[in-house]
Amino acid sequence: VHLHEKVFQLLRGQILDGQLPAGERLLPSRVLARHLEVSRNTVLVALERLSAEGYIVTRGGSGSYVNDHLQLPRAPSCASVPVPRVGFVPYRTDIIDFRSGVPELTRFPVKRWAMLYKDVMAEITPRELGYGPPEGHPGLRREIAGYLRTHRGVGCEAEQILITSGTTQAIGIAGHLLCAGHPDPSILLEDPITVDIRLIFQQQGARIHSVPTDREGLCTDALPENLAPQGIYVTPSHQYPMGTVLSAARRVQLLTYAQGRGSYIIEDDYDSEYRYAGPPLSTFQGMCPDRVVYIGTFSKTLCPGLRIGYLVLPPGLIYSARNLKWHTDLHNSIFDQLVLARFIRGGYYYRHLLQMKKLYKSRRDHLLKCLGTHQGNLSIKVVGADTGLHLCVRYPGIIFSPALLSELERNGVRVYPVSAHATDPSRYMNTVILGFGMLTHEKIEEGVALLHHTLSGSPRIRNRM
Ligand SMILES: Cc1ncc(COP(=O)(O)O)c(C=O)c1O
Repeated sequence: VHLHEKVFQLLRGQILDGQLPAGERLLPSRVLARHLEVSRNTVLVALERLSAEGYIVTRGGSGSYVNDHLQLPRAPSCASVPVPRVGFVPYRTDIIDFRSGVPELTRFPVKRWAMLYKDVMAEITPRELGYGPPEGHPGLRREIAGYLRTHRGVGCEAEQILITSGTTQAIGIAGHLLCAGHPDPSILLEDPITVDIRLIFQQQGARIHSVPTDREGLCTDALPENLAPQGIYVTPSHQYPMGTVLSAARRVQLLTYAQGRGSYIIEDDYDSEYRYAGPPLSTFQGMCPDRVVYIGTFSKTLCPGLRIGYLVLPPGLIYSARNLKWHTDLHNSIFDQLVLARFIRGGYYYRHLLQMKKLYKSRRDHLLKCLGTHQGNLSIKVVGADTGLHLCVRYPGIIFSPALLSELERNGVRVYPVSAHATDPSRYMNTVILGFGMLTHEKIEEGVALLHHTLSGSPRIRNRM
């Protein structure tokens, strides 16, 4: 950029934002040149342009003046508008954070991933670098279908799979598919359930009916009789957050309910790969593939930052789901899809799962042990510890109020109240979610000790009924 252009932009900026108001006399060119450390000629060229474009007028020998009506309305600068944080709450590393649903990120297979990425880049074709199909790369869909058939009892073909940006986008697509165009769509949701999931369905215009859960999962006897919901969202293998497994009898009741009303079951199978006790759980999709929209994710088995999940769709929904994905973000990144396909095909995925399951089982066992050894005079009940990356603990007599949660954080430990996910928080005030995916044995022990130490000193326990 020429110097005279810079001087022009500087003076024009000052005129437009009002620093040089209408009628103001500009400094003489010689003085300006000295201020700006440029030649007088440079200033004269800039002034000539300002005059030619109508920013200033030159009055005979008396100098240059700012023209009228040039000041732009003052817009608030972006930095001065406070924007509340959306969604993501960073986990704390300065204290012990029992955040749930996050795997051990230090064990992500970085080296293997990098090697496969290099191979993919060496072999990628120009055609693959262009736009691709919304349902995702056929190679990855084949690998996922194979994995699901072998390990999850999900009877599906690659054709039925649509790659998504995690469960989150899959839920949005499922909600839209089932609700759009319906005059008064409704979705049944387990209660409690991740708050964001309720919000995603609401965004699709659905009326939400919450159905309570208990030790056997969703309470099928509380299903609303006079309703034909478009969808029923469940986490049958590991209810979030309570961790329960939906019993076989209730699965049959729920399926009968759905079939009788033409409703779809949306099965969120987010972390059932990690099953620590008993045989692997079968899926709803395996029982009734035509009624079930199945959702899986790599957020818990690899890492959330990857943003890859998938839908397994009944044949009648495949076309509209692909359309929706296309009109949302076309498709997932080709690079991630190709690397992940190779990761599964090479057997690395399954090996990684086995290693991680061993690690999480030992962390879960250690957490259970520590809850016992540091129990003191507390009464506790553990729920939902057979699967996944978290469990729940009930502390009869304790109320996890905002004040108590802050006190715990001040004392070095963060836990997550179930009440934040419930339509009736009062039912769950004594229950917290303890995620153990990211915590070493030492941290688990220290965290439980801090938690129980604080709870034992809490006045609520002495006042308990
Ligand atoms: C119930 C449930 N399902 C699935 C997920 C995973 O979401 P995503 O696959 O979009 O990372 C979460 C995230 O915490 C969750 O709470």
